[in-house]
Amino acid sequence: MGQGHFQQTSLPLEEIVSYILHSGPPSKIVVLTGAGVSTASGIPDFRSPTTGLYANLARLNLPYPEAVFTLDYFRSNPLPFYTLAKELYPGKYYPTISHAFIALLHEKGLLEMLFTQNIDCLDRMAGVPDHKIVEAHGSFKGQRCIECQKEFPEKLMLEAVESSTPVRCLDENCGGLVKPDIVFFGEGLPEVFFQKKDLVEKADLLIVMGTSLEVAPFSMLPELVRSTVPRVLFNRERVGSFGSCEYDCVVLGDCDNGVRKLAEGLGWTEELEELFLKV
Ligand code: APR
Repeated sequence: MGQGHFQQTSLPLEEIVSYILHSGPPSKIVVLTGAGVSTASGIPDFRSPTTGLYANLARLNLPYPEAVFTLDYFRSNPLPFYTLAKELYPGKYYPTISHAFIALLHEKGLLEMLFTQNIDCLDRMAGVPDHKIVEAHGSFKGQRCIECQKEFPEKLMLEAVESSTPVRCLDENCGGLVKPDIVFFGEGLPEVFFQKKDLVEKADLLIVMGTSLEVAPFSMLPELVRSTVPRVLFNRERVGSFGSCEYDCVVLGDCDNGVRKLAEGLGWTEELEELFLKV
């Protein structure tokens, strides 16, 4: 159904507060995030009109913006990716209050799973443990040859990214190009995404933050929750099917402001700000 074909609904955030405080509380909260949760840390998102990455890649002379993350193009010209990787490589940025909020949900035993499309590892840095994170689009954590899949030494990868110099497989019978374990267009998502996605079907609250929900199969996750389960969106604009379900709560604007409002309603402001100071 197109965006304009349904009656837009939205529960007030106060309803979500009382749902969390008085219904149990929900112990199976699933969170979905995209690049919008990291923009406040200085990492551009992809599709925002002027500030997004895809609007600022002219210097790389790409045939089209997404080519920089497309396997076939990478095979023919790896330099644009290696140039961009230097800017995106983790280690230079810090988590936002939205990352801290997810870590607080975990601290309170309420986080069932975080599914993120981000490759910046800021959720882990904020204190969300590995076993509670599904990095649906991979991460810079590992790197391998795109032909034989052999792992490549991290130290050599760091040097290559630092100097924006594409590197090749150490096996002289192969010589394939090496890339970090981030999911390119044209590649499948990690197995763990498909193993864990049933957690969304069992969730008793879904919170979606900072994503355009433009890229499948991640963008299908919000459709998996049961019809009786509230879905909260913290995003600058309405995305996906949010607003079409009876228990949708759409909070438009910066996600950091949205989570601060939710934390305030829950009486968690002090704990949240304290955790944020520590990350
Ligand atoms: N607060 C709330 N929303 C924000 C903020 C913010 N501070 N900053 C940006 N946004 C919103 C944007 O308005 C947009 O709706 O977050 C969304 C970001 O969307 P994208 O830029 O498309 O990023 P994302 O959804 O993560 O992209 C998905 O596309 O290119 C691929 O693999 C890449 O994982 C990425 C995937």
